[in-house]
Amino acid sequence: MIPLMNVTKQYEHLEQELDAAALRVLHSGKYILGEDEQEFEKEFAAYCGVKYAVGVGNGTDALVIALSAAGIGTGDEVITSAMSFFATAEAIAAVGAKPVFVDCRRDTYVIDETAIESKINEHTKAIIPVHLYGQCANMDTILNIAQKHHLYVIEDCAQAAGALYHGKKAGSFGDMGCVSFFPTKNLGCAGDGGMILTDNEELYSLCQAYRVHGSGTNGLLAYSRKKGISVDTSALDFHGNLPKYYNFVIGHNSRLDTLQAALLRVKLPHLDGWNARRREIAKRYQQEITNPKVKQPICDSANTHIFYVYVLEVENRAAFREYLEKQGVTTGVYFPVPLHLQKVFEELGYQEGDLPNAEYLADHGVAIPMFAELTEHEIGKIIQSINAWEG
Ligand SMILES: Cc1ncc(COP(=O)(O)O)c(C=O)c1O
Repeated sequence: MIPLMNVTKQYEHLEQELDAAALRVLHSGKYILGEDEQEFEKEFAAYCGVKYAVGVGNGTDALVIALSAAGIGTGDEVITSAMSFFATAEAIAAVGAKPVFVDCRRDTYVIDETAIESKINEHTKAIIPVHLYGQCANMDTILNIAQKHHLYVIEDCAQAAGALYHGKKAGSFGDMGCVSFFPTKNLGCAGDGGMILTDNEELYSLCQAYRVHGSGTNGLLAYSRKKGISVDTSALDFHGNLPKYYNFVIGHNSRLDTLQAALLRVKLPHLDGWNARRREIAKRYQQEITNPKVKQPICDSANTHIFYVYVLEVENRAAFREYLEKQGVTTGVYFPVPLHLQKVFEELGYQEGDLPNAEYLADHGVAIPMFAELTEHEIGKIIQSINAWEG
C-alpha cells in the first residue's frame, strides 16, 4: 500500500542527526524551555520573517493562547472558515467566544474573503484565516477588512509551514500566526508541538504568560491588560522565590518540549527542500492526471502552495476511494464534516445548505498520497491508477 503520508521515511533519512539531538537533550536534563527550545524559537521566527516566536504544546493551544493574548473571551465573536480542522473552531469556543463561520472559496478552498465583511458586528474581535492544505488565504483583502474594522488577524498556519503569499511567509501577515508541528505536518516533530509567531512585543509577552499558568512578570502584564489598568511590572518583587509560583491570570501548561524543539532544529533546514519536492510531485499530478472525472486543485497565483495535502474533487468519492484502495493507493478526507455542521455547534443554528462550498468539499474532496519521500515509481503508480478509473 502507498500511504497517504509517511513520517518514518523522513526519520530514516535524518536518523543519526535526530538521534544525536534527542540524546543531547536527554543528557542536558533541561527538558522544559531548555536551550534548544529557545534557539528553535529564534530560528523559526527568523525563517518565518517575524520578530518573536513562542513554542507551545500543540497547534490547538497556539490558537487558544493567541486568542487569550488578544483578550478575546465570553461575548466576543471570531470569524473563521467552515472548512478547517475542528481545532480552529474549538480554540475559539475554548476561550468562551462564538465561532462565526464563513464559506470557503469554491476554487482554492480557503476562506471566501468576500463573505467576511457581512458577518462583522459589534461583537466581532478577530478573523482566523486558515491557510488550508498548504495554500494561504487572500491575506491582502483580509488585512484590509481587519484594519477597517479594528479586528485582530490570527493566521491558522497549521497546514502551511513555509508557504508563501506574495513571497512572504505564512504566519507573518497577521497579529499572530499559529503553527502546528504535529508529526505529519510539513514540519513535524515526534509528538505534539506548536508555535505562535508575532511581530508585536506585547503579544509576545502575553503569549509567554499564557503558556506558563499566567505566572511571573508576563503574567502581571496579562493581568493588567485583562483589568484594563496600568501596572508597573518592573516593580514586581518575588521575594527571592521563583516567579512561576506567582500567578495573575488563568493560563495553560503548554510549552514546546525541549526534546521536540531539538528535533525540529534538525529538520528546519530541510523544510524548503521538502516543500519544493512536494511542489514537484504536485506538478507531476497536475500534468499527468488526465482522467476527466477527477478535478485538480487550483493554486492562486499569489501563492507558493506547499501541498500539505493534495486534494482532488470526485463526484463518486466512495467508489473512487474503494477502487484506489484495491490498487494499493491510500486516500484520505480533509474534512468530512464542515465546522458549521459539527454536532457540537448545533446551538449556533446553522443548517445544511448554509455554506455550500464547504459542504461540497466535505462530500467530494479526496486526498491522494503526498510526502517528500514518495518515489517516482510510486507517483507513477498513483497517476496510472487514477487515470485508469472508469467512474
Ligand atoms: C488547520 C488546523 N488548525 C489547527 C490544528 C491543530 O494543530 P494540533 O494538532 O497541533 O493541535 C490542525 C492540526 O491538524 C489543523 O490542521
